[in-house]
Amino acid sequence: MLPKVTIIDHPFVQHKLTLMRQADTSTAKFRQLMKEVGGLLAYEVTRDLPLKYEPIKTPIAPMLAPMLASEKKMVIVSIMRAGQGLLDGILELIPSARVGHIGLYREPTTYIPIEYYFKLPYDVEHRDILVVDPMVATGNTAVAAVDRIKEVNPLSIKFLCLLAAPQGISNFHEHHPDVPIYTAAIDEQLDEHGYIVPGLGDAGDRLYGTK
Ligand code: URA
Repeated sequence: MLPKVTIIDHPFVQHKLTLMRQADTSTAKFRQLMKEVGGLLAYEVTRDLPLKYEPIKTPIAPMLAPMLASEKKMVIVSIMRAGQGLLDGILELIPSARVGHIGLYREPTTYIPIEYYFKLPYDVEHRDILVVDPMVATGNTAVAAVDRIKEVNPLSIKFLCLLAAPQGISNFHEHHPDVPIYTAAIDEQLDEHGYIVPGLGDAGDRLYGTK
């Protein structure tokens, strides 16, 4: 199976990403942009959702009209804490989505992800899952999150981020070649601290003003 990466190059997304990259963008503005971009990215990621045709009546005439085919609400799984920033915008677009959370932090010297929280909605084996984390740097967190989600056997998994590094994508697809990645951009590399270069800094810190 060929690893699949989709770059979401919509001009609104690219413009907002540039504003988010800028070091002098305030916390409030960064958070607002992350939310807006979350909705725009989710719009693109859900473009291939299957439709079914149902008979309805407009005030003028009956017709067969398209509706989402799936009976089951999709599940957005946010990798805490930075995933929360994208999640807020995604839920504005898909308010009926169910939400799961995975708490993972990067051990500061090895960058190995350590799980501190895991909660998914019931019934996920019949649902499509969209995992969200703004940054795929080494890819270790994304791999660990999807490892864990696969234990509950969902119908399908997609991974959505805002920025990725080439190493992170390779690492992810070595472990999960069946899971497509959607991202607004792939940057050049990682620095010695595991940050994406040029990147946008620490997404969690910039969202919550913790640095
Ligand atoms: N996580 C971030 O928030 N930023 C990076 O550049 C890499 C990982």
